Amino acid sequence: MGTGHVGLVTCVTFASIGHEVVGTDVDVEKIELLGRGIPPFYEPGLEEALKQESASGRLSFTTVAADALRDAEIVFICVGTPARANGDANLLAMEQSASQIARHAPDGVVVVEKSTVPAGTADRVLVTLQREGGGREFHVASNPEFLREGAAMRDALEPDRIVIGIESPRSLEVLSRLYAPLLDAGIHLIVTDIRTAELAKHASNAFLAMKISFANALARLCELAGADVADVADVMGRDPRIGRPFLDAGLGYGGYCFPKDVAALKRLSERLGYPLPLLDAVERVNEEAVEAAAAKIEEALWNLEGKRIALLGLAFKAGTDDVRFSPALALARRLLASGAVVVGHDPRAASNAKEDLPELVLASDAYEAASGAHAVVIATEWPAFRDLDLGTLREIMTYPLVVDGRNLFDPAEMADAGFWYYPTGRPPVVPTPPVQGSLPIEVGDQPTPVGQPSVGP
Ligand code: UGA
Repeated sequence: MGTGHVGLVTCVTFASIGHEVVGTDVDVEKIELLGRGIPPFYEPGLEEALKQESASGRLSFTTVAADALRDAEIVFICVGTPARANGDANLLAMEQSASQIARHAPDGVVVVEKSTVPAGTADRVLVTLQREGGGREFHVASNPEFLREGAAMRDALEPDRIVIGIESPRSLEVLSRLYAPLLDAGIHLIVTDIRTAELAKHASNAFLAMKISFANALARLCELAGADVADVADVMGRDPRIGRPFLDAGLGYGGYCFPKDVAALKRLSERLGYPLPLLDAVERVNEEAVEAAAAKIEEALWNLEGKRIALLGLAFKAGTDDVRFSPALALARRLLASGAVVVGHDPRAASNAKEDLPELVLASDAYEAASGAHAVVIATEWPAFRDLDLGTLREIMTYPLVVDGRNLFDPAEMADAGFWYYPTGRPPVVPTPPVQGSLPIEVGDQPTPVGQPSVGP
């Protein structure tokens, strides 16, 4: 139930390991597209697998939940759990799914939460099933997903772990049978109680968000101390207790998961009477990351009014067309509000970005965006940006300024190419400003460049 990013990848990958899957969604347009083998979003490998599994007859889609549920042995709830204004997860779609299951699924069905939900949600699901299920038997379980957008197919078929939260032997038996092909291939299985499985998912996302915010806080400190956050992260990351992934400083985390899951875990902790102020700091540092980049651009350009800024990358991360809670768009909004003209380019997310932010001017490639720009800003870590021809870029820009919100470039190369280069948490590359010839300047009284120590081209 629910054919969003998680639901659709779950449908396709379960079909690919031999199960018969019926996906259902209330969104008529989405189901119509899926029926024609077209995913409503970009995910590498998904379209081919969708077409293949649909052709095999193992995978089909319907808007009629009753049809999907009638003969189901297992039902996965994969609906959205967006944040409410106070940070709580909005679980209305969970309740509506439970109601549908109660009305249409057969006796003894195993109902599995795949959506990310606060600990205790399964209890509410079970109550709804029992209230509305006319005396039939239901088994509730939790099976959180750990899929990353852009790598979701691989993450689904070769996960680091499969987590199953169960409270009945029937749930364990059915889920073990479902995952048998992956378990036989050696994927690690962790069986817990349901609340533990629910909490483990929130804990994983919040911890990853905390790593990113730690790196971003260090980046600010490094800029003030004249140190290099990328090297600091490399040193830290060699310690297997810390690990290098998710220590890349930049514009901060975005996307549909981290912001809402950090907020939901925070709210859960408050409701349970043990608030986690650590998570307040994680959120605050993340918000500051975008503002710090904006301030850096402002410092480099002096006034933003009328300046043309090329924003390279609009998706919340590379490998996806998803712009939900994208730090790149948050930065674009901030620059537009300050009077800049923002010309964006993204290999996948341009049209979604334009829908979200109509004031954005779109360019069909990075060079078109940079042409005549007073600054290029790297906002999403698309590897293709790393391969840009720096000589051409320098030539077509009005000012040779690059603000790197994702630390994609090598500072020495940027210096060689003649850029003023402002990375994140690393020493900037800024040439010594020209000395005004008419002013008599005493030796030892040279003007010092504004900002950080320079590594000049
Ligand atoms: C995240 C988790 O990584 C998945 O394990 C989880 O299943 C998923 O949420 C979910 O709950 O469904 P995803 O949102 O696809 O996956 O994105 P990530 O790859 O985790 O990246 C999140 C954000 O952090 C992006 O904006 C990315 O640019 C940023 N990030 C990541 C950094 O700023 N620095 C880093 O070092 C790593």
